[in-house]
Amino acid sequence: MSHSLKNHKEKKSRKTIKVPDFRKYSTKILVKKIFKSSSGIKILWDDNTSTYYNRFWLRENSPDPQTTHPDSREQLINLLSIPDDLSIKCAEITESGKVRIVWSPENKESFYDYSWLRFWGENRFNKQVGLPKQELWKNFSDKGLPKVTWSKENQNECLLKWLQHLKAFGLSLLKGVGSSPKGLEEILETFAIIKESNFGKIFDVKFEEEPISNAYTNIELPLHGDLCTRQFMPKYQFLHCLENSTEAGESLLADGFMLAKILKEKDPFAYNSLTKIDVHFINKAENSDYQWVEKVINLNKSGEVTEMRLSPWLRGPVCGNKEEEEHFYKAFRTFMKLAEDTDFQEKIKLEKGDILGFNNTRILHGRNAIGKGGERWLRGCYMDGDDVDSTLRMGRIPRPL
Ligand SMILES: [Fe+2]
Repeated sequence: MSHSLKNHKEKKSRKTIKVPDFRKYSTKILVKKIFKSSSGIKILWDDNTSTYYNRFWLRENSPDPQTTHPDSREQLINLLSIPDDLSIKCAEITESGKVRIVWSPENKESFYDYSWLRFWGENRFNKQVGLPKQELWKNFSDKGLPKVTWSKENQNECLLKWLQHLKAFGLSLLKGVGSSPKGLEEILETFAIIKESNFGKIFDVKFEEEPISNAYTNIELPLHGDLCTRQFMPKYQFLHCLENSTEAGESLLADGFMLAKILKEKDPFAYNSLTKIDVHFINKAENSDYQWVEKVINLNKSGEVTEMRLSPWLRGPVCGNKEEEEHFYKAFRTFMKLAEDTDFQEKIKLEKGDILGFNNTRILHGRNAIGKGGERWLRGCYMDGDDVDSTLRMGRIPRPL
């Protein structure tokens, strides 16, 4: 028997809210039993799983209007105003299925929505709440590059699908957006703020007589990430193809996280060197001097790869002793050879009206040399990751066209 019913009526507040945020929570799994302890409660659910909640976390998230502002849903209570000796006098299930807690020494009662408790009990350790799971790839020779065709009438569904692919695979192609020079900004600004850099808000990738970057030449560009010289590399890069009538000039793409995984399996010592030894990343320009010191492969505390800094032409000295520097070069050359393996690359010739989006901290990008004749004009920009994540969690584009 679930939700063993107790007849406690919630007091009518000036504005009753069920949960201390704006998310919609629902679960079909009911509370079977509640166990209280000196530090919090444990809930045993109908599916025989259990979840734990700390007393202070529960107390400061009480959805009553003294604790949580009913409009902003932000906390009104100061954590320090909660007594040190906070304890749970009573924890039980009400008639409506809520979890009722009576606090001591305050002698205050709080009512918690069980779906909210279930969600945060399950997602406590989830660092990607509400987001698609990352899927590593070697190439897309079987199923083709993830893509979506643009439709202004169905822009919500279309952009969400595009961003889901972008989040999961690290790249995604949006086709058929036309070739208006303003098109890139117009579409991206429906859900995000474009990140400006010293290359401007929007940059044009086309041949220049006096280039400030190798990107603005016709030469081949080996696989790389952009702006490795910055503390915060732009998370995403978008390239809108306005013209591509030249011979060759195909875009090359590789999943840097997959390459790191393969390197770890094949040559753990090289992997270790690239995740441990710092190197200077230094730009080369007459009017700027951007520098940052970091590893090539960056990991989080759980040892998962979170960022790749592959910059074949913008590196300074290695921050290491004689042996470490030697290890670094050996490891970096091994990694570059791996990145050159065409089995781990996707090659695509962008077409007029395509927008290619990719995770600049994961996907390595480059291009074949551009042939003679015709014109190749890509418009590009950068973006941080938060707007993409927020849009995916909301499940809708915040500012449709
Ligand atoms: Fe680039």
